[in-house]
Amino acid sequence: MPLVAEGVEAEAGGKVILKGVTLELREGEVLAVMGPNGSGKTTLANVIAGSPSVSLKKGRILIDGEDVTELPPEERVLRGLMLLFQSPPEIKGVKLSTLMIASFNKRRGLSSDLLKVTDPSIFSKMRSSLSVVGLSDEYLYREVNVGFSGGEKKRSELAQAMMLDPKYVIMDEPDSGLDIDGLRVVGEIISRMKREGKSVLLITHYTRLFSTVKPDRISVLMRGRIVAQGGMEIAEEIDRSGYSKLAERLGVELNND
Ligand SMILES: Nc1ncnc2c1ncn2[C@@H]1O[C@H](COP(=O)(O)OP(=O)(O)O)[C@@H](O)[C@H]1O
Ligand SMILES: [Mg+2]
Repeated sequence: MPLVAEGVEAEAGGKVILKGVTLELREGEVLAVMGPNGSGKTTLANVIAGSPSVSLKKGRILIDGEDVTELPPEERVLRGLMLLFQSPPEIKGVKLSTLMIASFNKRRGLSSDLLKVTDPSIFSKMRSSLSVVGLSDEYLYREVNVGFSGGEKKRSELAQAMMLDPKYVIMDEPDSGLDIDGLRVVGEIISRMKREGKSVLLITHYTRLFSTVKPDRISVLMRGRIVAQGGMEIAEEIDRSGYSKLAERLGVELNND
């Protein structure tokens, strides 16, 4: 069963940003959504996750066939959805270990005392999640993302994602602010998620992650509309000639109005 955005029209800050987007993330695939800055990629991620910063005017969001359009973000998370932010927030006063234990418990259906250690394997799970993303155990006892570099924030979010064990992962420009090694780690984690049967919506402006993880399909967003869909040949065209040439070939406007 897929994750579906169907005919989505959405506004943020009183401005129409998405103008009828339909997208299907199938089970076990990596779907890349590419587009120039300001095309609506982050807005699309937010609307799927149910963020209050975006208001959905038309269309529906379906998770495994269930209409979740009216459900708050946390209910969508319980149905297996996770959004990794473009700029992960700092959470002062909350240790990474605390957040990880709480999310692990919540995902498993616990509703009270989220900090109870219900399963002793949780500690080894936390350590292995951190080690996969290349962070030491010390990060468990630091406040979430406080004072982390851009790359460390991305890594800590990926470690959190592994604790939540989501079925559908939306990554909003996970390559932004990463050095070469960070890029490789992110690419490897996406490949690993795919091997585990998870579906990844990979939002990116650049094609550089694709050398480590090849998307199964690519959709291109421009000015709030999907203007092209296909395979790696689209990435190659974007790499070779850029978004403005692609827009020209497709006969669509690239500049904002
Ligand atoms: N809260 C907001 N208020 C006003 N304009 C917004 C808001 N959020 C996004 N926008 C505008 O909507 C457009 C798309 O933004 P965004 O979804 O962040 O694009 P992308 O992630 O593709 O760069 C941009 O022009 C941006 O300035
Ligand atoms: Mg964005």
